[in-house]
Amino acid sequence: MIGRNDVCWCGSKEKWKKCHFPDEGSQAHSQAQSNQERKNLKEEYFKKYKILLKNEEQINGIRESCRLSAKILDATCKLAKAGLTTLELNNFAHKMHLEAGAIPAPLHYGEPPFPKSICTSLNEVICHGIPDKTPLKDGDIVNIDVTCIYKGYYGDCSRMVAIGAISPEKQLVTDVSYDCLMKSIEILKPGIPLSKIGEVIEAHATSKGCSVVNQFVGHGVGVDFHENPQIPHNRNRITTLLVPGMTFTIEPMINAGVREAVIDPLDEWTARTRDGKASAQWEHTILITENGHEILTNWTR
Ligand code: MF3
Ligand code: CO
Ligand code: CO
Repeated sequence: MIGRNDVCWCGSKEKWKKCHFPDEGSQAHSQAQSNQERKNLKEEYFKKYKILLKNEEQINGIRESCRLSAKILDATCKLAKAGLTTLELNNFAHKMHLEAGAIPAPLHYGEPPFPKSICTSLNEVICHGIPDKTPLKDGDIVNIDVTCIYKGYYGDCSRMVAIGAISPEKQLVTDVSYDCLMKSIEILKPGIPLSKIGEVIEAHATSKGCSVVNQFVGHGVGVDFHENPQIPHNRNRITTLLVPGMTFTIEPMINAGVREAVIDPLDEWTARTRDGKASAQWEHTILITENGHEILTNWTR
């Protein structure tokens, strides 16, 4: 955490208390960042943390890509019904990418190459579920995760869908993971330490008797799929301050039972809860602005 007499996060080289200190109404320094300050900050964040702060042009590109990802996600979720397979959802989403002139980022991503265009994570699957011929059935919950590359920029988001009537345990993780995401977004603005995100998420999840997965994290995104910084959803000691121009995801994975994930040894992707209990996740890509934040992936619950 920075102190009142430390240099401000904004790149002005002034003391924080004289610059963007949040609780003092009349700042000695103007609130708007100058071009020089922006340049100082960009250099500092790249040197210190390898975090790429985005300029206006990049932000506009990422915003467009995020809107497309959210649109594909909403349409795919609408289709999810009992009897339909996750492969059919994948094929629908894949086609929508191509028709929009976009590339599905998961396809052939990583090692071993991810074999499909979206992730579909059912019930006890925490994340990175591979679409296959499994039909959805009443009582299932499924996370659908869409990341598109549009005009070179990445937008990453995911949502849960409930198929028919679901158990109280599945309802709980679905609601708690949504609330964790939205509560952690609410606090986002320049000057807060990155650790606040995990603090808000873990406090809420544990208050509801759920656990927070710590083997997967949110991430910087926009110019690349997985950029710095990592965004842990658990309590942590990362002091990096949020600053304007950061674009990253928050994507809390919340379990009804233990937090531990086990990765499928055969496909090397599918991550399941160790105890087989339900898990849920929602994801947004967010931009830090000069006054707060903007949710770039405008899907609707
Ligand atoms: N979209 C996922 C995320 O939120 C990443 C999927 S990687 C894949 O970061 F290869 F599994 F697609
Ligand atoms: Co992500
Ligand atoms: Co994602």
